[in-house]
Parts: sequence; structure tokens; C-alpha cells
Amino acid sequence: MRVLVAIALMGALAGLGGFTLVSLGLVSVSASSGHWPATAWVLHYAMRRAVNTQSMGIRVPPLDDPALVLKGAGHYHTGCVACHGGPGQRQSLIARQMTPEPPFLPSRIAHWEPQELFWIVRNGVKFTAMPSWPARQREDEVWALVAFLRAMPTMSSERYRQLALGERAGETAKPVTPDHLRPLQDPLGPVLTNCNRCHAADGGGRGEGAFPRLAGQSEAYLLGTLQAYAKGERHSGIMQPIAAGLEPEVLQALASHYAQLPAVSRTGAPMPRSATLAEGQALAERGVPERGVPSCAHCHGPKSSPRNPMYPTIAGQYAGYLKQQLELFTVGQRGGSEYAHVMHSAAQRLTPEQMQALADYYASLPAQSAPALAEPSPASSPNSGGD
Ligand code: HEC
Ligand code: HEC
Ligand code: HEC
Repeated sequence: MRVLVAIALMGALAGLGGFTLVSLGLVSVSASSGHWPATAWVLHYAMRRAVNTQSMGIRVPPLDDPALVLKGAGHYHTGCVACHGGPGQRQSLIARQMTPEPPFLPSRIAHWEPQELFWIVRNGVKFTAMPSWPARQREDEVWALVAFLRAMPTMSSERYRQLALGERAGETAKPVTPDHLRPLQDPLGPVLTNCNRCHAADGGGRGEGAFPRLAGQSEAYLLGTLQAYAKGERHSGIMQPIAAGLEPEVLQALASHYAQLPAVSRTGAPMPRSATLAEGQALAERGVPERGVPSCAHCHGPKSSPRNPMYPTIAGQYAGYLKQQLELFTVGQRGGSEYAHVMHSAAQRLTPEQMQALADYYASLPAQSAPALAEPSPASSPNSGGD
């Protein structure tokens, strides 16, 4: 009995001592002093164990799709490289002053299973600077990061620049010349350079279908969409942080820039069987009346009568992107402008096969600029891109 009382007393004294130290402000919280090796070991051990246990049961989807790696690389350059470095990319000096210091990642990837990487990127790590994914709904985007992380350890710095910055092979960094300083006079210049890493300078996306085509989309839809990302009403851990960081006038200028570019399409995927295309076309034109699915063409074209500019043009858009958006609509995770609710009811009753057929059909149509579609064409002229 006495022993128990003694232990309890000692515990209480230790607690009181600790509390006094904390209250007097004598505990070191300075990042510059780092952790004691023992503290660092315990924290990292706790993190490893937690990630290992809590990622159990996460099912890993196929990760070898080049579009996933490309999408992951684009975001890695926005959101991770400053803290973690990459092939040919140094960590920022400021990030290196954090405690714990973010590790240089390429050499760390082999220590983790894909589902563990997924868990870390989605949830972040408490008591460190490692952030969680900005859009909880978008597990597909987190998997894109995992696909890229797994490819990174063996990646050359040229390949990294190609993927993350959109540089073509053999192209080296531009020399610093007065010409190179021109973006300083054009306030939109540096912003556009960033957009173009992913959406390409001609607004056509980068092939592969990782990034949607913006060129020729209606200005009203582009602006409504950028505002929806900025306000968190359309969910994407990739686009939300980018749009939220820009002034309303810049969003307006960007929407008008991409709307004015000629519509280009490089969907160039191997053509699906014509039976699938015919099924897609029939679905797009008639919908599925018995299941309450409306005609897509009524709102998205192709058709000759004017369309609401808030209804995006989807002809010549990448099939992978279209299917992904339909899947998100079906499960209620797409969000968007104030018009987005009409799509939720339209997409809800589509089967996965129907979504694929519709995505393939629209991707196979020539890309069209929104204004051309909004203009009524004479009844005698054939419906462009239609049957
Ligand atoms: C603000 C800095 C910061 C940013 C931005 C950041 N991280 Fe981290 N990350 C950290 C820190 C600090 C740790 C170390 C956590 C620890 O030691 O427990 C970490 C740990 C990790 C780990 C585990 C590494 C290991 O072996 O311990 C992975 C994987 C990771 N981050 C991936 C990412 C990815 C992918 C992104 C971008 C989506 C990202 N991080 C963005 C700071 C950052
Ligand atoms: C790191 C790559 C990346 C960068 C940089 C980027 N985007 Fe995006 N963008 C994406 C991805 C991925 C999507 C699809 C997101 C989704 O699923 O909602 C997207 C979607 C969009 C959309 C919606 C397209 C549609 O059809 O609904 C617009 C508009 C857009 N981006 C504009 C911009 C602008 C403007 C910039 C520059 C300020 C920019 N993006 C920078 C990757 C990027
Ligand atoms: C009543 C009009 C209407 C109908 C019918 C309709 N849509 Fe939509 N659709 C919209 C609107 C509005 C949006 C834009 C939502 C937003 O982001 O604000 C949209 C968005 C989309 C998108 C995302 C485009 C992008 O760039 O992100 C796809 C894909 C799509 N619709 C496909 C379809 C298909 C396939 C059908 C037929 C089953 C269909 N829609 C029927 C109005 C409609």
C-alpha cells in the first residue's frame, strides 16, 4: 500500500514539475534546436506504426496509367517539391529549417507500400508540416500522386521537367535575357505560364487526358468554374489551391484568354469500336427516357440551336476526363457552378458502360468553340460534327 502511495506521489510531483517548467516557459519549442535523437525516433516510429495499421484494407487501383503519373507530376511541382525536392530539384531553404525537416523524397519512396503513401498524402502527418489533401472527396487525385511518387525514384531530371513543367525533350531552361524578363511587365504572364504547364500553351491539354482542354470553352463556364474552385464548391486538390490564390480580375482575364483560343483537340486515343460510338451517340441524342436520363445533346450539343453558355462544350474533350467527371457527378462529388445540380440528376442513373460510351462518343467529335455552337446555323446546313 505504501509503495503505491509513494509511486502516485512521485507521479504527481513529476507532473507538477513538468507543468511548472511549461508554465515558466522553459520548454524548448525552437525549431532551430531540432529534436533530441530519442524524440525524433519515437515520433517517426509512432508515425510509421500508425500509417501501417491505418492503411490496412485500402485497395490499390492500377497505377501504371501514364495519365495518372502526368497528373501527379503536375501537382507535385505545385504542392510538394518546395518541401521535399525531386529529381534535379532542390528543397527550399526555408522548408529545410522545419522540425522535423521534410525528407528529400525520392530516396524514401521504397520504404512505403502504395496504400501507405496514399494514407500519408491523403491525411497528412500531425505535429509536422506534412499537410492533408485539400479535397477529401478526390481519392482519385491522391492515387495520381501515388502513381507519380512510385515512378519518381528512377526518374531523370529531364523526365521530371518534361512531366511537371511540360518541357519538350532536348529543350533546356531558357537563358535569362531581357526577353525572358517580359513577364514582369505582363502581370498575367507568370500565372499563364503556370496554367500552361498542365493545360498547354494552346489550351488543348497535354494529350494523355490528364488535364482537360480549355481552349474554345465558353467564357461564362470557365469563369463560373474557376470561381467554384476558388470558393471550394467544386472539389479538386489540384485546382482549388491554384484558383483560390488568384484575384477575381485575374480569374476573369484567364477565362477570357482560354475562351478566345481556337478549339484544339488532341484526344487522339485509339478509336473505340464503332458499335460503342453508335451507342454513345444514341444515348447522347435520346438519353434513356424510361430511366429518366435526359438527352445530353439538348444541353451540350452537337446541335444547331443556341445553347446556354453555362453548359460546357464537351465535344473533343478527353474521354478519360469526361468519364471521371460523370463518375464524380454520379456519386454527388463533382460540385461546380450554380447550374451543376442539373447534371447530378442527369448523370445519376447512367451505368458505367453508358458513361464510357458517352465519353468515347463526345471525345470522338471534332472540338468546337462555344460561340460557334451558341449561334443558330441555317436549317439547310448539315449539323457539324453530328451524325
Ligand atoms: C510544408 C512542407 C511539406 C509539404 C508541402 C509536403 N510535405 Fe510531405 N512531409 C513533410 C514533413 C515535415 C514530413 C516528415 C513527417 C515525419 O517525419 O513524420 C513529410 C513526410 C512525407 C512523406 C513520408 C516520408 C517518410 O519516409 O517519412 C511522404 C510520402 C510525403 N511527405 C509526401 C508528400 C507529398 C506527395 C506532398 C505534396 C502533395 C507533400 N508531402 C507535401 C512536409 C511537407
Ligand atoms: C498541376 C496541373 C494544373 C495546373 C498548373 C492548372 N490546372 Fe487547371 N486543371 C487541372 C486538372 C487536373 C483539372 C481537372 C480537375 C477536376 O477533376 O476537377 C483542371 C481543371 C481546370 C478547369 C475546369 C475545366 C472543365 O472543363 O471543367 C479549368 C477552367 C482550369 N483547370 C483552369 C486552369 C487555369 C486558369 C490555371 C492557371 C491559373 C490552371 N487551370 C492551372 C490541372 C492543372
Ligand atoms: C439540363 C442541361 C444538361 C443536361 C441534360 C446534361 N448536362 Fe452535362 N452539364 C450541364 C451543366 C450545367 C454542366 C456544368 C456544371 C458545372 O460545372 O457547373 C455540365 C457538365 C457536364 C460534364 C463535365 C464537363 C467538364 O468540362 O467538366 C460532363 C462530362 C457532362 N456534363 C456530360 C453530360 C452527359 C453525358 C449528359 C447526358 C447523359 C449530360 N451531360 C446532360 C448541363 C446538362
